[in-house]
Amino acid sequence: MEYSDWNSLQAACADCHNCALGETRGKLVFGTGATDARVLFVGEGPGAREDELGEPFVGRSGQLLDQYLAAIGLDRHTNAYIANMVKCRPPGNRDPLPAEQDACIPWLRAQVKLLRPKVIVCVGRIAAQKLIRKDFAVTREHGQFIQKGAFLMMGTYHPAALLRNPRQKPEALADFLALRDRLQENTGDER
Ligand code: URA
Repeated sequence: MEYSDWNSLQAACADCHNCALGETRGKLVFGTGATDARVLFVGEGPGAREDELGEPFVGRSGQLLDQYLAAIGLDRHTNAYIANMVKCRPPGNRDPLPAEQDACIPWLRAQVKLLRPKVIVCVGRIAAQKLIRKDFAVTREHGQFIQKGAFLMMGTYHPAALLRNPRQKPEALADFLALRDRLQENTGDER
């Protein structure tokens, strides 16, 4: 299905029941941000707080993500877009199942088509293994930029992992600084 604008895409997504997560969700978490952003961040799936509020990354992980965004001049409302692999909360915060990700990915693809970001940042293993490579290893390959079709892809640590293991924070900051450099490169598309 082709969507020519964000309103029709979001309206179609709003009552999705393509998988069982649609039966247990509170709010569907479509995504948030600037629709002319040059960078898209893709997390895993909504947690409890996101499920309540209908916005991605609004819990403790989200506060940390916002700090990394701010460190490189990005903001979730003005010049970045944030979405997840699945738009509905997996019960008990379990990882989204491959079948759930497959059921949901057409919505993410439609978002990418409208956004046309320069860079897609996979926030954590789940997104990186689905969007970059099945055996992507975050600890070894974080911060590396890979051209995939029209997009530059990069995987970095999930902020929840950084909260559990703060020693990895300097590496995550380095990934964001590298992202800033890539976004500043002159490409003729100076959004
Ligand atoms: N973790 C994610 O991956 N996404 C969210 O939206 C919140 C927490």
